[in-house]
Amino acid sequence: MSNAETFRNLLLERRGPVTVLFVNRPDKLNALNRETLVEIDRAVAGFRADPGQGALVVTGTGEKSFVSGADIAELAALSPREAEETSRFGQGVMEQLERSAKPVIAAVNGYALGGGCELALACHVRIASENAALGLPEVGLGLIPGYGGTQRLPRLVGLGRAIELITTGRRVKADEALAFGLVSRVVPLAQLLEEAEKLALAMLKNGPLAVAAALEAVQRGMQLPLDAGLRLESALFGVISSSEDTHEGLRAFLEKRPANFQRR
Ligand code: COA
Repeated sequence: MSNAETFRNLLLERRGPVTVLFVNRPDKLNALNRETLVEIDRAVAGFRADPGQGALVVTGTGEKSFVSGADIAELAALSPREAEETSRFGQGVMEQLERSAKPVIAAVNGYALGGGCELALACHVRIASENAALGLPEVGLGLIPGYGGTQRLPRLVGLGRAIELITTGRRVKADEALAFGLVSRVVPLAQLLEEAEKLALAMLKNGPLAVAAALEAVQRGMQLPLDAGLRLESALFGVISSSEDTHEGLRAFLEKRPANFQRR
């Protein structure tokens, strides 16, 4: 993967098999301008292609903000055609994260508003620090969410709750976000990255092909009617069963030893 020096708005840190991506525009509370989105796209593509890296943690630099949203100064200058293109581009970046065959965890370390909330929604799992505040405030700017928020939020927290949050633009604090499943764990800020890394390592102990297949079954399945999702699950179950890793996992259990998965 590229070194941190090649990015103007991101920092990348490799912690063993876990890549930590920091959105790094602290003077703008890590707002996503176009250049930052382009860099996230490139960094995520690099992570996905890197066989040495097993999981990605996405966070923001500083103690106040994960990502404060799309860059409002840039949005203000867009024509309608450019705005649609910007939305499509941002959606593509979020899809790049969501479609990763390796787990992606958002470590929400403060404000996750607008595009920042949408970035967290595109990750496979979200954990938050106690000072986190999440929301989709776009209607207050006379806009709607454009990087997937109107679609992913209701899928995650249910229709009524999503409509309430999107139409009021209300921010929720970490404890409320936890109560309705917008985040799956809340920890003190000082422990956030360590907890995200631990979660990633817990996933990496398992068969990586199985984790990839499970991610695909869940993510694609969410877009399908139940019967088609069940067929997808069976098909992936069949494919994964022919892998060497499955034989190793089953044998290791019977021989009462840890499995040694080889991604084959
Ligand atoms: N886009 C561009 N700049 C942003 C930004 C965004 N989404 N969010 C914050 N900033 C900038 C501010 O303009 C300010 O820049 P300046 O110092 O050059 O004036 C700097 O970041 C610090 O923000 P500030 O508003 O002074 O911090 P705060 O602690 O008073 O408030 C927030 C923090 C997050 C509540 C507030 O910045 C905010 O509401 N941001 C916009 C959130 C939003 O609507 N996001 C959705 C966008 S579609």
